[in-house]
Amino acid sequence: MSVYPDLRGKVAIVTGSGRPKGLGEAMVKRLAAEGCKVVVSDIGAARGAEMPETAIGSSKEMQQIVAEIRAAGGEAIGLVCDVLEEAQVAELVAKTVAHYGRLDIMVNNAGIGYLMKPIIEMTQADWDAVLGVNLRGAFFGIKYAAKQFIAQGQGGRIINIGSQASKSGFPFASAYVSSKHGMVGLTRSAAIELGAQGITVNTICPNHVTTGLGAWQNQFFSAATGRSEEKYLADMRARIPLGRPGLQEDIAKACAFLASGEAAYITGEAMNVSGGEEYH
Ligand SMILES: NC(=O)c1ccc[n+]([C@@H]2O[C@H](COP(=O)([O-])OP(=O)(O)OC[C@H]3O[C@@H](n4cnc5c(N)ncnc54)[C@H](O)[C@@H]3O)[C@@H](O)[C@H]2O)c1
Repeated sequence: MSVYPDLRGKVAIVTGSGRPKGLGEAMVKRLAAEGCKVVVSDIGAARGAEMPETAIGSSKEMQQIVAEIRAAGGEAIGLVCDVLEEAQVAELVAKTVAHYGRLDIMVNNAGIGYLMKPIIEMTQADWDAVLGVNLRGAFFGIKYAAKQFIAQGQGGRIINIGSQASKSGFPFASAYVSSKHGMVGLTRSAAIELGAQGITVNTICPNHVTTGLGAWQNQFFSAATGRSEEKYLADMRARIPLGRPGLQEDIAKACAFLASGEAAYITGEAMNVSGGEEYH
């Protein structure tokens, strides 16, 4: 589906997009369907004991997503990148430019959302893991994309994936909420700093998407609040004005819009995509 003709031929990286059913997968596939030349990027293998294999995009899954994009007529490559490592993020951008000749769109999507603990049980390692991937990783993505955009001299688009947790607090998620609130500050500062170069920087704030990581969170929060999963989901639907949780595609649509020329005058925003659940 192509809604934004100006996206045709643009080069886009989406970090953390190698996990089936993740938001990154939906965004990278939507950008490819718009005619972008895309880089599917993910960590490829678990980093340590705090990172379960089931919660990451493996190299095999990443290549599967690349194959699906190509089979649908799109242009894609897969590049492993651990966003915690500055050198790897720099290399991700360098390899993208070596392959496609340029970079136009950087989507900082990689995130850890499965490390939920009460504050009194959270360790420094837990805190550092979440803040590291969610916030430091986005900082590296902004830094190296911006360097490339400035060298090209034609502006660029940076889209960070925040959360409802960028706007509201949630129990057992202090590190996650802090990282996603921090991302809004990072977005605002980067937007001001990079605006003169024609670079826009925005954050998308999805509410709960119940597939992938979200499915795991359903189990966690229903157990933590003493409700059945059905009751938890019914309560969620009842408080969302549009009556349903978010879908992968809702976030992909917002991403394509912010990447397109239609969003040329939007920067520094933290845009809710939440069916009206979050409105500030
Ligand atoms: N699912 C939701 O309900 C929801 C809601 C709001 C925001 N988000 C945000 O959306 C983004 C995507 O989450 P998702 O729901 O698709 O979950 P997901 O777990 O499917 O995706 C996260 C991806 O990040 C990758 N990742 C983790 N550590 C990494 C590292 N060090 N380097 C590179 N990649 C790494 C994982 O391998 C995975 O592919 C996250 O930033 C998350 O916080 C999700």
